[in-house]
Amino acid sequence: MSFPVTRLRRLRQNELLRRMVRETRLSTDCLIYPLFVCHGRGVRREIGTMPGNFHFSVDTLVEECREVQGLGIPAVILFGLPEQKDERGSEACSDSGIVQQAVGALKKELSGLLVITDVCLCEYTVHGHCGVIVDGNVDNDATLKLLAKTALSHARAGADIVAPSDMMDGRVARIRQVLDEDGFSNLPIMAYSAKYASAFYGPFREAADSTPQFGDRRGYQMDPANADEALREVALDIEEGADVVMVKPALAYLDIIYRVKSSFGVPVAAYNVSGEFACIKAAGMKGWIDEKRVMMESLLAIKRAGADLILTYFAKEAATILQER
Ligand code: PBG
Repeated sequence: MSFPVTRLRRLRQNELLRRMVRETRLSTDCLIYPLFVCHGRGVRREIGTMPGNFHFSVDTLVEECREVQGLGIPAVILFGLPEQKDERGSEACSDSGIVQQAVGALKKELSGLLVITDVCLCEYTVHGHCGVIVDGNVDNDATLKLLAKTALSHARAGADIVAPSDMMDGRVARIRQVLDEDGFSNLPIMAYSAKYASAFYGPFREAADSTPQFGDRRGYQMDPANADEALREVALDIEEGADVVMVKPALAYLDIIYRVKSSFGVPVAAYNVSGEFACIKAAGMKGWIDEKRVMMESLLAIKRAGADLILTYFAKEAATILQER
């Protein structure tokens, strides 16, 4: 039926009608808030490139997470800033490492907040790469051991989900095996499956002090031009035991989110990364855009593309708006 019988504007006449026929709904339930934890006490240091985000010491992190939980956000993901870096990123897998300490404190002080840990070496290595360097290159197989050890120490500290973000081949299988052998067969893995070598990570590298000291990450993260390859990455991760697969970044990769969700039908997470956050924040601070509306529209777009979960630095602000609605 076409015009004038069909008039699509009929259902757009007022907010009640619009609300009833709305196809996609953002919910606080899908939000995961990324947080950065450092050594020390009483630290709450704002990250220059990411206004409203901080480096927290364990004590202030617990207070922050109390607030996050109060907003109805179900989960946080932790990134650690070690005391010392070395060639092999030793603090990443140390049982007294900063992330392990933070997980322990959060699990002790708060109940009902899921604690996810990012499993990677780049914040912990002197060279800033996500693995061990052999002959000037990130060595895949030598790195697997360290990643598995890191994931296991996070599990022992009490992590609810581990999230490997390194992009080594075979890491999900190795982590699954090590977790199962140690009695953690029920601990889910959220794999950064289609993680692109993106310029949108810029602000994070200042936040996590993880800029590669030579070269770049194009030898292990994906080429932004590739989409079929993302499906292969996701298929392999699912085969290896990933419970949730992630696409990262989100906004410039909505087609990937859509294809992953429609091809596999598994839980899909999307990482609305630091650069995406920073662009909206900066334009908002300049008064060039209506920041809150652009934020909500962007998160909605990520959801509409097919993401079940959204990792975003906007989680608190979005949850506040959703609560008011
Ligand atoms: C670590 C890691 C990175 C991000 C998440 N985990 C940085 C990178 O790969 O360079 C980026 C997150 C963001 O930009 O918000 N491998």
